Amino acid sequence: MTKIKIAPSILSADFADLGVEIQAVEKAGADIIHVDVMDGHFVPNLTIGPVVINSIRKTTKLPFDVHLMIETPEKYIEAYAKAGADIITFHHEAVKDSSAVIKQIKALGKKAGISIKPNTSEQVLKDIVAELDLILVMSVEPGFGGQKFMPNSIEKLQKLRKMIDATGRDIMLEVDGGINRETIKFVLDAGADTIVAGSAVFGGDAGKYAENIRILRG
Ligand code: DX5
Ligand code: ZN
Repeated sequence: MTKIKIAPSILSADFADLGVEIQAVEKAGADIIHVDVMDGHFVPNLTIGPVVINSIRKTTKLPFDVHLMIETPEKYIEAYAKAGADIITFHHEAVKDSSAVIKQIKALGKKAGISIKPNTSEQVLKDIVAELDLILVMSVEPGFGGQKFMPNSIEKLQKLRKMIDATGRDIMLEVDGGINRETIKFVLDAGADTIVAGSAVFGGDAGKYAENIRILRG
């Protein structure tokens, strides 16, 4: 059993002090930094782009897991790669040819991830699982932090865990949305190995981040 990875979502951090916040969660034991990119079209919210990622890149050595909640991601992937993303995850629902986008990301020397929204079946991934480095299951409708966990993600994680194991490849199975000290138990049992948590990590002041992460690791 590999050690679970905790990926704090900086969407819940203080954007006035992003570099400081990232260093605080690194010190608190985070494994990965989860960066939520939203375009106001694919999701009804706007966040940050490559300029900000480029600036925060120098604040930490932790890998950047960039979650693109944007339309036509293929147009912007190169910019995110150059800005310092290590893993680039796009949405199945945002593209026509997932395989082509995976190849584009890998050709830039980055790890390729795909994400599915709560109403998308894991079956859409059955022919491309082996091409991926990461699968991200959304357990809330993407767009905002602090929402309630949707339990239909559990069965999806179980099925994807089987599909991943059948490939014999080292593919991360990540879950994002509404993860807290209660819901984390269900997603770990279902086979997730990488846990995004926004409000559960950044809730409270910076002095609490290590405790918050420790509670999640349980
Ligand atoms: C939602 C984002 C999530 C979000 C998670 O669209 O993809 O990463 O920030 O926040 P919590 O953990 O508060 O649900
Ligand atoms: Zn996310």
